[in-house]
Amino acid sequence: MRVCLYQRIPVLLFLPSLFLITESAAPGSRFPLESAQDQDVGTNSLRSYQLSSNEHFVLNIQTRNDGSKFAELVLETPLDREQQKMQEMVLTSVDGGSPERSGTALITITVLDANDNVPVFDQSVYRASLVENAPRGTLVLKLNATDLDEGPNADITYSFTLYTSEKTQYVFALNPNTGEITVKGTIDYEDMKFYEMHVEAKDKGQHPLLGQCKIVVDVTDTNDNYPEITVKSYKSTVNENIPVGTVIAIVGISDRDTGDNGKVNLSINQQVPFWYLSVYDSLPIHLMRKCLFSSSFNGRDFWGHRVNRPTF
Ligand SMILES: *[C@@H]1O[C@H](CO)[C@@H](O)[C@H](O)[C@H]1NC(C)=O
Ligand SMILES: *[C@@H]1O[C@H](CO)[C@@H](O)[C@H](O)[C@H]1NC(C)=O
Repeated sequence: MRVCLYQRIPVLLFLPSLFLITESAAPGSRFPLESAQDQDVGTNSLRSYQLSSNEHFVLNIQTRNDGSKFAELVLETPLDREQQKMQEMVLTSVDGGSPERSGTALITITVLDANDNVPVFDQSVYRASLVENAPRGTLVLKLNATDLDEGPNADITYSFTLYTSEKTQYVFALNPNTGEITVKGTIDYEDMKFYEMHVEAKDKGQHPLLGQCKIVVDVTDTNDNYPEITVKSYKSTVNENIPVGTVIAIVGISDRDTGDNGKVNLSINQQVPFWYLSVYDSLPIHLMRKCLFSSSFNGRDFWGHRVNRPTF
């Protein structure tokens, strides 16, 4: 009975095997198992090997001329470090001796990174808005690209691509390491209402991979422009009996700001015998002779637009 118990004695000694295999290893690559060798020949030479079930490797047994056998791992399907960094398998072998001897060895495979992932921005388009005249150094936004690889293959630097105009690159600074975009020039709404930037993220792999994104920065107006008054035409002298309602000057007003910042009210702050009329807010304003005899005023300007009678 004692003999029976020890019929299969695990006395074949195997050292654990450790492999470092890059994830870019091509299917068909072979990795000899040093420990799975048997110097015995004849019936005691190793008879069979078995590999625990796994996704990537199969076992290949080679027989030398002298009849001794050795085993090698053959990669069958590609490895992917991003999916599985390490895998363990058990190699079992049984010899042909009597009694049979068997042994196991632990095979540990560490998958090394290859630069097989591109940097990816967390947004393909970033939007930000900025008030004009924002001071230099103002943080506009922070880009964020990540790379699933590791080490230098995942280490990212940011830079403007050729699609970002020189003018825009003059106004914004991009930190290559942090991805922060800050103001470094003058933001003038009247000059540019929005800026578009194109940035690439590049890893530091031996054969670097790139990811791209677009950034749109809208500029919001502040009231930074004075209204401008231009006298388009005027009579420098007028007869004293000039008829009421005669146009004596056309005045243009403008303001480069938008919205309420661009609205302009005109007033004459001296007592002069003229009044002005705004036909439309945006059209020239007509300086007209003060209406001394309101009854003689027909209530229309020289273009035939109805006007409000001024009060005196
Ligand atoms: C960058 O994006 C990744 C993936 O979307 C996210 O996990 C990470 O927290 C982000 N980092 C920052 C600083 O926003
Ligand atoms: C301009 O005139 C309008 C109409 O009289 C008035 O409502 C507005 O407050 C004025 N704006 C300024 C800046 O004086």
